[in-house]
Amino acid sequence: MTSSNIEFIYQNKIFKIKNPDSNETLLNYIRTKLKKTGTKEGCAEGGCGACTIVLGELKNNEINYKAINSCITFLPTLQGKQLILVEDLISKDGSLHPVQQAMVNYHGSQCGFCTPGFIMSLFSMYKKNSRFKDSEIKDSIAGNLCRCTGYQPIIKAAKSLKNKNKIDQFSNNKKDIINLLKKINNKSIVIYYKGKKYFAPRYIMELKKILKKNVDIDFLSGGTDLSLIVTKERKDINSIIYMNSIRELDYIKNNNKYIEIGASTPLIELESYIEKYYPDFTKILKRYGSPQIRNVATVAGNIATASPIGDCLPLLLSLNAKVVLQDLKKTKIFFLDDFFISYRKTKLKKGQFIHSIRIPLPKDNTFKAYKVSKRFDDDISSVCAAFNLEIGKNKVRSVRIAFGGMAAIPKRAIYCEKILSNSIVTDEIIYKAKKALEKDFKPISDMRASRSYRMEVAKNLLEKFCVEIKQKKLIGVYF
Ligand SMILES: Cc1cc2nc3c(=O)[nH]c(=O)nc-3n(C[C@H](O)[C@H](O)[C@H](O)COP(=O)(O)OP(=O)(O)OC[C@H]3O[C@@H](n4cnc5c(N)ncnc54)[C@H](O)[C@@H]3O)c2cc1C
Ligand code: FES
Ligand code: FES
Repeated sequence: MTSSNIEFIYQNKIFKIKNPDSNETLLNYIRTKLKKTGTKEGCAEGGCGACTIVLGELKNNEINYKAINSCITFLPTLQGKQLILVEDLISKDGSLHPVQQAMVNYHGSQCGFCTPGFIMSLFSMYKKNSRFKDSEIKDSIAGNLCRCTGYQPIIKAAKSLKNKNKIDQFSNNKKDIINLLKKINNKSIVIYYKGKKYFAPRYIMELKKILKKNVDIDFLSGGTDLSLIVTKERKDINSIIYMNSIRELDYIKNNNKYIEIGASTPLIELESYIEKYYPDFTKILKRYGSPQIRNVATVAGNIATASPIGDCLPLLLSLNAKVVLQDLKKTKIFFLDDFFISYRKTKLKKGQFIHSIRIPLPKDNTFKAYKVSKRFDDDISSVCAAFNLEIGKNKVRSVRIAFGGMAAIPKRAIYCEKILSNSIVTDEIIYKAKKALEKDFKPISDMRASRSYRMEVAKNLLEKFCVEIKQKKLIGVYF
């Protein structure tokens, strides 16, 4: 079934919007059309969390409550989901939700501008986990900034929610909402609005048919890069095809050789899946944007953007990952090594989309990754480094090292790798390997870091890697 009207659940009812503007943000709709002004606008670029709302999405017959940034979400992507705003947390009898009450009890608000966003981030955590650790509290609010209260009262409020009875109006209504979500979950969307086109196919076959007639079209996955064209550059995006509506592309599987990640899989799912194979991948993802960003952003979007500071990219390069591309007729598989051409340019051609990403499963290799940014949470890397090492009998058998933030593209440190490969890792070899980085990279100075800082950090991360490997006694005998 195809429709030009989107449907979503709001306040336990199906809401319909006829022919919406595909470039309108959800935040704008909430504040100006729904007239709910609890949700605030701070930065309009996903960085402050004031606009955080929660979406309920059906997954395996359950509702998955996701905090997202409504300022960088396009309205039509609301199709088939439940919209929950800060105003909706108050019960019919006027009593506050336990999350709101905890913020009152622990004085978690002063001017109040950030408060609705914090409430919604904590609400999403509260609905997801029956128990949560202190680290999960901090993680859940990593995408929310507060200028006046300070974070301790908010953290204390969140801690007080541990072991609280989780029954609230949302759990009481869950069955009804699931039934409503099932009713509206089965259609593809095609919208023509004042010269703008928006497609949200449900199947790959539909996607290909759309591509046949619309070669010059922008793929929208999480929208955490693309939407900024509208919210920051103030430009229109005239043709959009929404990839995250395609369920067939939302998967992670492994076949004993590699992990395959479908293009629409949000990073938050990769973050938990990959931990048992490559714990450092998860460690980096936990510092990738915020939960609001990772709830929607994808690896495919990160690869297609090809930013020199895209965090997944050095990790994937060092793990020798492949990217699977499709067009109308063919599937092409590239090693990521061969995929990036120049600054933000890739081998991706018009009419081609990223179908999936393949990461080899670990064998005898040790993988480590490091991110250095000005701020620990929700910040873009100054330098990101990834090391993938295989140890032979007496020496390093092979090593793949890749850096972000050191060149116009995410790039391997080939000269440095050559020094380390087939070597016994002595202090002298480490010195030579660090020196080789000067041959590999000529970093630039920009607002995030100076050229010399970047080079110094890259060298230090290489040394840190060697020291940590030694401490784990993986290559200790070779020092
Ligand atoms: C507040 C904030 C914090 C951020 N923090 C980080 C960070 O810490 N580290 C980091 O690396 N990045 C960060 N980013 C950037 C961004 O989140 C990532 O690049 C993200 O992975 C993009 O994925 P997406 O699914 O949102 O892509 P989108 O924005 O939907 O798309 C990005 C580009 O990829 C193309 N594209 C998307 N899917 C496909 C596909 N299947 N096939 C072909 N082309 C496709 C789009 O057309 C577009 O050109 C941040 C962004 C924001 C707003
Ligand atoms: S307004 Fe700042 S994250 Fe949306
Ligand atoms: S209470 Fe004022 S910004 Fe947080």
